[in-house]
Amino acid sequence: MLGIIGGTGLTKLANLEITRRQVARTPYGEPSGALTFGMLCGVEIVFLARHGYGHTIPPHEVNYRANLWALKEHGVDRLVSVATVGGIHPEIRAGGLVVPDQLIDYTWGRAHTYSVSGEKPVTHLDFTEPYCSEMRHDILRAAIKKNIHIRDGGVYAVAQGPRLETAAEINRMERDGADMVGMTGMPEAYLARELELCYAAIGVIVNDAAGRGASKNGIREEDIQRVLSDLMSRVRVLLEELVVMDSPDSCQN
Ligand code: HPA
Repeated sequence: MLGIIGGTGLTKLANLEITRRQVARTPYGEPSGALTFGMLCGVEIVFLARHGYGHTIPPHEVNYRANLWALKEHGVDRLVSVATVGGIHPEIRAGGLVVPDQLIDYTWGRAHTYSVSGEKPVTHLDFTEPYCSEMRHDILRAAIKKNIHIRDGGVYAVAQGPRLETAAEINRMERDGADMVGMTGMPEAYLARELELCYAAIGVIVNDAAGRGASKNGIREEDIQRVLSDLMSRVRVLLEELVVMDSPDSCQN
C-alpha cells in the first residue's frame, strides 16, 4: 500500500474518502497523529501528517521512528513524503516543485536508527542512493500526466531547525553541493531504508534560501504562506494522480 506523509501545508487530501483513523502505538512511542486510511478512486492509501494534525510538532521533535514503524506495520511498502524546502540552486526557486535525488544530513540529536547495541550484529546499510528510484520515477510520471512542472533531481540539505539558516550557512551548504534546504528529510529517508520501504520525497519550494533571490534581506512568513497554498493545490493533484495512475479503474478526479 502507498503511504503519504504530509508536511507543512498538507494535513489532509481533499478527495480522499476516509475509511478509518487508527491510533497506532509502536515500540518507539506514538506517531505524530492517527493514521488516516482512505480510498482514492478505489485505491486504498494511508496518510499521516508529519507535524501532527494541528501542526504543533517541530521538525526536531517529530517521532520519525514511530511514524515510519507505524506506517510499515499497517501495510505500507511505498512511501511518498511531502516536505517544504528553501531553494539554494538558482533554478530551484520559490513556487516550484522538485524531486530530490540526494541528501546531506546536517541534523543532530535525532533518534536516527532502529539499530541498538546488543540486539543484532551491527550492519551498515548502503545509502549511496537515499531515495527509491521507482518512487521517484512514479512521481515524475504522475507530474507529466497532469502537466505539472517538477524538477528531476537535486541535493537536499537537511538542517536541524527549527530556525532558518544564516546566509553564511546557506553559502556553506552550496559549497557542500546542496541545492535546497529543509528540516525533515532525515532521519526519515534513512529509517525508511532500514524498514525496506520504497521512499521518495516531493520538495515544495516555499522560499528562496536565506540571503538568496527574494530572501536577500530575510525570509518573511507572509511570503511563504502566499506560495504555499498554490503549491499545495498542485501537490494534491500530483499525489492523487500518483495514487490512481496504475489503477485499473478509470477515475475522474
Ligand atoms: N530552510 C530550512 N527549511 C525550510 C526552508 C528553509 O529556507 N524553507 C522551508 N523549509
